[in-house]
Amino acid sequence: MAFTENCAGPFEGGRMHGAEGGALKLRRIAEEIKECRKCGLAVSRTNTVPGEGNAENPDVMFIGEGPGADEDTSGRPFVGRAGQLLTKMISAMGYSREDVFIANIVKCRPPNNRVPDSGEMVLCMPWLFEQISAVRPKCIVALGATALKGLTGRESVSITRERGVWTEFRGIPMLPTFHPSYLLRAPLAKKEAWEDLKSVLRFLGRPIPDNSGRVKSNMR
Ligand code: URA
Repeated sequence: MAFTENCAGPFEGGRMHGAEGGALKLRRIAEEIKECRKCGLAVSRTNTVPGEGNAENPDVMFIGEGPGADEDTSGRPFVGRAGQLLTKMISAMGYSREDVFIANIVKCRPPNNRVPDSGEMVLCMPWLFEQISAVRPKCIVALGATALKGLTGRESVSITRERGVWTEFRGIPMLPTFHPSYLLRAPLAKKEAWEDLKSVLRFLGRPIPDNSGRVKSNMR
């Protein structure tokens, strides 16, 4: 489309951070991630991919699965083919990448782009939890089954059944939708993904851009 938990208790509310703002916290977390050797993915990575974007209470935090080859090379999330589609999805919503925060369940590329295993996810997700706590997004969009598994802590999820259904991650409203990689393989599902993103805009009280005619063509 020019496309347009879970762990313990809720995060503290309020817009203001303490002495250390979201961006500063994020930089500190990214520095720590760079040194992380908690799992085997550290051996084969080129770069860690901590995430990027608006770290100060953005409307949306998008959470994917893990870096692929392009992300591993650049150290930036969602910059390959799936990332280009995610960028279109974000812009169809009326945002730029800089307006939102983009992160992943695991911060290092699994070899051959395999799905991260549950051990890797468990070891890596404390970084993500710290990031969510620092960023304080108004809502979370979980991209695909791995993100949904990680954020709900459930072994088994059905993204087909659960997409479009609001839930919460530690008190933050969360909506699962299809991963952009899946949308590249199954373009007909873009229509449903756009419905999900409109639901996010409605939740945020934002105008729904009139992309209806362009959605499918622009999500190529
Ligand atoms: N897929 C993901 O889940 N994350 C990325 O950063 C890139 C592709």
